Amino acid sequence: MDDRIEELRAKREEARQGGGEDRIAKQHDKGKKTARERIEYFLDDGSFHEFDQFRTHRNHTFGMEEQQLLTDGVVTGYGEVNGRTVFVFAHDFTVFGGSLGEVFAEKICKVMDKAMEVGAPVVGLNDSAGARIQEGVGSLGGFGEIFQRNVDASGVIPQISGIFGPCAGGAVYSPAITDFVFMVKETSHMFITGPDVVETVTGEEVSFEELGGAVTHASTSGAAHFAEGGEEEALDNIARLLSYLPQNNVEDPPRVDPWDDPDRDTTTAGEIVPDAPKKPYDATEVVADVVDEGSFFEVHEDFAKNLVVGFARLDGRSVGVVANQPRVNAGTLDIEASEKGARFVRFCDAFNIPIVTFEDVPGFMPGTDQEHGGIIRHGAKLLYAYAEATVPLLTVITRKAYGGAYCVMASKHIGGDVNYAWPTAEIAVMGPKGAVNILYSEELAAADDTEARRQELIDEYREEFANPYTAADRGFIDAVIEPGETRQRLIDDLEMLLSKREDKPSKKHGNIPI
Ligand code: COA
Repeated sequence: MDDRIEELRAKREEARQGGGEDRIAKQHDKGKKTARERIEYFLDDGSFHEFDQFRTHRNHTFGMEEQQLLTDGVVTGYGEVNGRTVFVFAHDFTVFGGSLGEVFAEKICKVMDKAMEVGAPVVGLNDSAGARIQEGVGSLGGFGEIFQRNVDASGVIPQISGIFGPCAGGAVYSPAITDFVFMVKETSHMFITGPDVVETVTGEEVSFEELGGAVTHASTSGAAHFAEGGEEEALDNIARLLSYLPQNNVEDPPRVDPWDDPDRDTTTAGEIVPDAPKKPYDATEVVADVVDEGSFFEVHEDFAKNLVVGFARLDGRSVGVVANQPRVNAGTLDIEASEKGARFVRFCDAFNIPIVTFEDVPGFMPGTDQEHGGIIRHGAKLLYAYAEATVPLLTVITRKAYGGAYCVMASKHIGGDVNYAWPTAEIAVMGPKGAVNILYSEELAAADDTEARRQELIDEYREEFANPYTAADRGFIDAVIEPGETRQRLIDDLEMLLSKREDKPSKKHGNIPI
């Protein structure tokens, strides 16, 4: 018996060594942890249960039969993060460059299937040279099996990707389907084709970092939600993100013990909004004052900065927050902001997370770039996402709510459950100046002092339309509230809406304009 146990221990140790000391040293020299070190750091101490430690590939080409490394390049299993079950897979770059073959894919599929059966999140830590060249179509088939599971799991269990090394070619499409992508600056790269191919095909010279680094994807392409300074920061933030989420789509998100006074006065939030309708301010400061202190966790912070999205807590309960950001492009909605907001709203709706919308929007962004880029169909995504959402929708109009954007931002007409306006709100078809120019063009042309008359008409318009009371009169706003009451009202409403049930007609799926 002792011999057998020794044999088992030796095999376990062999598996733990991955591709061996030299390759582990190379990994460390690049400033990267190994797959096992990442898992160890990420999961609660001693909670990791590994699957398939002794699997090896079945390949007999290119001399691969001589190279049998235990685990086959991916470490898989489950463990706990803050006491809650999470399934993980971590590519081991020290074994065949973390390249994906058939057995490697089978191991990932096994954890994904188990996660679906038990209803727990999957976190994938990617660091891979992509399809294992020696296994040819077998490895491509492996990718396909994973993609199918990513899609089947979408909206059922949270799926989170950490990109901690290369992620190239078809391999990018698994993280792309997952809900949130974390990258690490300098050490992780995602692209369909690398700089060499780009130069061969297009003649363009570009570095790895510029083409597919964390900053590029978090700010320009939007493919990553977070660009982190290091692996530990990324793993800490994945854990933080999970703390806001339910384990699956039939659970409610977890409530933590509240630490902030639910009745706290939020007059400060109102003071952040300037009286001058065009003066910018930082919407995240308003959000931060209303939600539980320190709880706002911004997502996609560097992409489409004219719209802010993220998670927060209200009296300990998770909420998704969407806020127009007047400090960037006056908070207008453009193509990227619409896509960013739509995907976030749909995530929250899929996972029973109520959405609080802070609205200050002058409309959709005008211009040929936007029109020709398809603002009509992209803007429709945000409208669609809000309109199909059945989670509680709470809206606070802080200042402007103009035109179609008024309808889009969780208005009463598309399912808003509780819609508030601050006394500073201006709810109208368009801003006073634009409206006056259209309505009174002839009168202004004939006026002795055009500018003085224009200002008079603008003031009249503002008095008549640019306020919350017409909307309140129609019942489109449930109440005009003082900024100081906002937190208390939202917390009460959230509690009232806990039992909200809304059935939509059954259908295979809708046809969101993608
Ligand atoms: N299939 C099988 N093995 C691969 C591989 C692949 N696609 N890519 C790399 N490897 C192996 C290398 O042979 C090397 O093996 P060794 O440790 O036994 O020497 C190991 O993985 C590490 O690769 P290496 O090239 O030394 O690492 P690097 O850090 O210098 O470069 C990459 C990493 C990913 C940039 C580079 O390996 C690469 O470009 N690979 C091909 C990527 C690709 O086109 N994949 C298909 C896309 S779907």
